[in-house]
Amino acid sequence: MNNEGLSSSSQPDAKASGLEGVLFADTRLSQVDGEHGELIIAGTRAETLAESVEFEIVAARLLELGTDVPEPDLSARLARARVAAYAAVPALSDSLRIPDAMDALLAAIAQARTGRDPISVLAALPVYVAAGARLRAGLPAIAPSATRRHAEDFLAMLDLPTDAARARALNVYLVTVSDHGLNASTFAARVVASTGSDVVSSIVAALGALKGPLHGGAPGPVLDMLDATQDTEPRIWLESELAAGRRIMGMGHRIYRVRDPRAFVFERALVRLERQLASEQGGSAVTAIMQRLAQARRVEHAAETLLSERHPERPLRANVEFYTALLLEALGIPRALFSATFAVGRCAGWLAHVAEQRRTGKLVRPSARYVGPRPAPRLE
Ligand code: COA
Repeated sequence: MNNEGLSSSSQPDAKASGLEGVLFADTRLSQVDGEHGELIIAGTRAETLAESVEFEIVAARLLELGTDVPEPDLSARLARARVAAYAAVPALSDSLRIPDAMDALLAAIAQARTGRDPISVLAALPVYVAAGARLRAGLPAIAPSATRRHAEDFLAMLDLPTDAARARALNVYLVTVSDHGLNASTFAARVVASTGSDVVSSIVAALGALKGPLHGGAPGPVLDMLDATQDTEPRIWLESELAAGRRIMGMGHRIYRVRDPRAFVFERALVRLERQLASEQGGSAVTAIMQRLAQARRVEHAAETLLSERHPERPLRANVEFYTALLLEALGIPRALFSATFAVGRCAGWLAHVAEQRRTGKLVRPSARYVGPRPAPRLE
């Protein structure tokens, strides 16, 4: 398949189609192996990448792969672009005050009239997410710093602790979610890019897709689930959710048939964060992290057992969102910002895919089978 639009060897049942197994593009950006639970981003396994590099490096590698333009000094450019994005905050304040964090981010990105190139867009996301959160709370926005790294600066703009342990944990998060094959938001970005539209429009489309609870909107509901099962037997609560026709958030995945490899990365990051904070500070925040982790493992086990009884044919295991919820909560990021924080990391992949798609020069335009009413036959 050479980026010729969508193709499939066999025609799927169109009614049920989520384009499973349809090969759409050759990509150099990431590979998701759902059978073995392996994620490769820009040539390196996600767990290795998460432990070894800053978000800026991954973004540079992805953008370079997407565009063939080396970005050796992305850190400095990104930092300068954050400062530039902040200058637009007063003009965007009405958009940033929109109550839903994703709606606010979407509106601000679409409205910003300056800096519509990839680096500017990548830099603008954390600035607008943080500024929006502050403005909605009736507080002044906090300016970014050109001397901080992306992850640390995001925490600082949210007025959260920026110690090395927390900055590292957020960096692990941003690196790990930076790209993930042709997920729904990346596909949305590529479809828009294929029409020849601008970068910002692709990112707005991707944000709209990411907002959905079946994609990037699950971590908030995962915490709601952990809250709801705090004092009860998880299985009883989970059964009542399924009986009400609802899905268990943070469980199941379109591609993975094993536990999502990113869940392991975040679990390890949480344990390390707890240990580092315990040795440096001690205190109740540390206990809270371990209690949450222990409870999450209980709920995950109960959900996995229950879902395997309901769907013995299809393994439904914890996905990235399950431990995203815990990691972001441990950093003090409010749950209303979880999806927007996901966007801060994933934007690197979106931009690289947009560039890759543009180079194909091919419009994406699948077909639908018409099953609606037909007019009466023409009278000859
Ligand atoms: N809870 C309960 N049932 C689930 C489930 C979940 N989390 N995930 C899948 N299922 C069930 C479906 O109800 C369906 O059952 P049916 O065949 O009896 O109707 C079956 O498993 C297949 O589901 P389907 O929607 O076809 O699979 P998919 O590949 O399209 O779904 C997700 C992938 C991620 C959308 C799905 O697993 C889900 O909704 N998970 C919860 C939301 C979430 O965590 N999203 C973040 C993803 S990273």
